[in-house]
Amino acid sequence: MPSSWKNTVLLAVGRVVVALRAATGDPGARLFRKPAIEDPYPLYESVRAKGKLVPSKLGLLLTAEHSIAAEVLRDPRWGVMAPSEMALVDETAYAPDSRVLVNPLQRSFLMRNPPDHTRLRRYVGGWFTPRALRQQMPAIEAVVGRHLDLVAEKGAFDLVDDFAKKVPVQVIADLLGVPASDHDSFIRWGSALVNSIDGVRDTKELKLLQDTLAEFDAFLMDLVEHRRRHPGDDLVSDLVAHDELALEDLVATTELLLVAGFETTVNLIGTAANAVLGHPDVRRRLIAEPEYAERVVEETLRWDPPVQYVVRVPLEPVEVGGQRLETGTPVLMLLAAANRDPAVFADPHRFDPDRADAREHLAFSSGIHYCLGANLARMEATAAVRALFLRFPELRAAGPVSRRPSPTIRGARHLPVNTGVTKRSLAVDKR
Ligand code: HEM
Repeated sequence: MPSSWKNTVLLAVGRVVVALRAATGDPGARLFRKPAIEDPYPLYESVRAKGKLVPSKLGLLLTAEHSIAAEVLRDPRWGVMAPSEMALVDETAYAPDSRVLVNPLQRSFLMRNPPDHTRLRRYVGGWFTPRALRQQMPAIEAVVGRHLDLVAEKGAFDLVDDFAKKVPVQVIADLLGVPASDHDSFIRWGSALVNSIDGVRDTKELKLLQDTLAEFDAFLMDLVEHRRRHPGDDLVSDLVAHDELALEDLVATTELLLVAGFETTVNLIGTAANAVLGHPDVRRRLIAEPEYAERVVEETLRWDPPVQYVVRVPLEPVEVGGQRLETGTPVLMLLAAANRDPAVFADPHRFDPDRADAREHLAFSSGIHYCLGANLARMEATAAVRALFLRFPELRAAGPVSRRPSPTIRGARHLPVNTGVTKRSLAVDKR
């Protein structure tokens, strides 16, 4: 059978298998179904009610417990494993060919264990220290201001497409030294590649992802060549200067920075802004004290994080949550559920930027894979939320929110809003 047909059949069979398993209440299968994508929190609570480690017929265990997730993520006896190597029963999320061909993160240090992980992360670590990032703040504020000027002209706009999406891509592109003329392609590549985290649904999507990845790889190769001849003060020039770094690791690291740092931050900005719109008391406080934005962002990370779960496997037999697990048993840690664990957070479902312990959340994971861009993401989202409500204190929702169709990356796909400023008052302001 030609491989595209084989994939089509496998993908279709996989979808039916997951649908059937979800119908019997399997928590792993339900995670990938529409109701949980719209609102996963009832499912997370049912996992919590079932125990510390809950088996799924898809061939993995799930945990909603903060203590177990934190323990596993920080324990060197656990590691990451490429989805293609996991003995999962389900073929829905990753058709065999797509698993290997399409997941750009698979080649990066996010999906590697020590010593490779340690070695590769070190090359870029220096760019993300609080000190290095402080210099970025004026540029971030300038990008935010520029896009607020543009939406002010419109009155009605999509908070995701017209604002949240614009900020992170510009920041990463500047960091990597990508010229402004390529930013639109960058947005397109970033959006397409982040979808590969959930696998592909059909051969058309598989082809699109393969083409996108090839296009992006070719662009990065050109950029690398260009920086070899004309080094700048950007991250890619810095990587190029390390002769011992293999070209494929250099490209994988650059791809990781785009994929990990783009849509995640877009979703954080969207969810935080939407949370403020839905909580008038928080909005009043934010307008009166713009620095409150920092707390709003931290609580958003806890309450509804952009990355909903991560997976780890034991690298040797281990005992956790009172169970002995064999090497390679995948455990899916529901970070978003851990962030609402009542053993750690009082009244966990409430959005409360005043809670003192919000930073205990696991939105950026923990241990050696702790998000490298955590501080950058916080800076971008804080600048965006602060300026948005200062500029438009009357901002209001102007239509229903649509969700990203992903169980892994959560956030709004579209968030129609209105600045609450009439054209007339804009004209008066300008005089
Ligand atoms: C709100 C925004 C963000 C969220 C929620 C987020 C979340 C995460 C999470 C959960 C992980 C760990 C995955 C795991 O443990 O398996 C991670 C890793 C990573 N993130 Fe972020 N991230 C965000 C923004 C960024 C930004 C802006 C960058 C950089 C430009 C970035 C770069 C990375 C990198 C390089 C890793 C891999 C770290 C490693 O494997 O050692 N992230 N991120």
